[in-house]
Amino acid sequence: MGLHPFPGGAGLFDVVHEFPPLERALFDRRRGRPNSVWRFRELVDPELPPEAVVSLEEGGTPLLESEALARYAGLSRLALKHEGRNPTGSFKDRGMTVAVSRALLAGAKTLACASTGNTAASLAAYAARAGVRAVVLVPEGATARGKLAQAVAHGARVLAVAGSFDRAMVLVRELARQGQVALLNSANPFRIEGQKTIVFEVLLQSGWDPPDWLAFPAGNLGNCAAFGKALREARALGLIERAPRLVAVQAAGAAPFAAAFERGFDRLQPVRAETVATAICIGDPVSYARAVRAIRETAGTVVAVSDDAILDAKAAVDGAGIGAEPASCAALAGVRELVRRGVIGARERVVCVLTGHLLKDPDTTLAYHEGRIGDGQRANPPTSVEAELEALRAAIGNGGP
Ligand code: F0G
Repeated sequence: MGLHPFPGGAGLFDVVHEFPPLERALFDRRRGRPNSVWRFRELVDPELPPEAVVSLEEGGTPLLESEALARYAGLSRLALKHEGRNPTGSFKDRGMTVAVSRALLAGAKTLACASTGNTAASLAAYAARAGVRAVVLVPEGATARGKLAQAVAHGARVLAVAGSFDRAMVLVRELARQGQVALLNSANPFRIEGQKTIVFEVLLQSGWDPPDWLAFPAGNLGNCAAFGKALREARALGLIERAPRLVAVQAAGAAPFAAAFERGFDRLQPVRAETVATAICIGDPVSYARAVRAIRETAGTVVAVSDDAILDAKAAVDGAGIGAEPASCAALAGVRELVRRGVIGARERVVCVLTGHLLKDPDTTLAYHEGRIGDGQRANPPTSVEAELEALRAAIGNGGP
């Protein structure tokens, strides 16, 4: 195993493995505990000593079929990989178990990241688990309350930076370059290695018969890079014959990747980001070059959707009993748009990755249902009622038990 600079990757490194022959059966057999990222350890970090692993049993998330959401998207079938079911409620835990383990093995004393919230929550938890210091930089006033609460509760030093995520990212990379902190953002190649397991699990849960499309929300583009690398390696090992086409979905107000895609990926033009989906409110994504490769290699596509479309898709996901945070639901909004345009066929098999839990951002959920944001088409506001039987009867209406 070695670390190789990614060509044109603005100072990024990739882990390059020399895998021995590996077969599907190895991963199929390994059921039960640990049903986690480490089920795929040969594909993630074969050289990490087992006793060095810092884990909260991340991964092993469900792949849920939903008829209601298939109908919503205009598809005959749809499955959702629910990453909100991770220990801290987002996919970040998959990368964090690997990167925190590696950082500690290398003797790091202070682990740091810039974050729109989920990376901060995850790093805070894994650092606490390992008993090491965490410093997280979040954009002030633009981080969902659930995530902020997690970071504080797990004991991280939370620094609310008076600026955007992109600015915080520049600052923390500089601190890392000067040797003051170890960088735990997805610029850290070990984060990418852990996040590959989302793809490996989807493949395993699909009986190694990949879906036609794999859709996910895209911000800093770490996941896009990880999914591309996972599919490249799975094909090289013969675990699959063909890769699903990747669909990266951005919020229209934070869509430099979608804009570059439209221009044939000429170059990245950073933007001032603005969207209700704070998790993906990113204008200058770090993993751009790696993500371009992933989209090209899988004949994938990149699409932008409006905040209203994201909120409508979220109301549909939540209303189907599944639930996810706003950014996560951009994936479904993007798939719906691509079906409408005829890019995705109604009978094709699609998997959407729901990247974070509903409870991450209660403020946005309530603002929608109370009619303060969005188009309100699926709004379900709570109603005040007098503490009297007659009033309750009237409010409940007809129906019977
Ligand atoms: N969905 C959620 C819920 C996220 O928190 C993020 C990123 C993404 C999607 C986008 O993934 O960055 O790999 O393209 N959140 C980061 C954070 C930026 O700081 O928590 P990406």
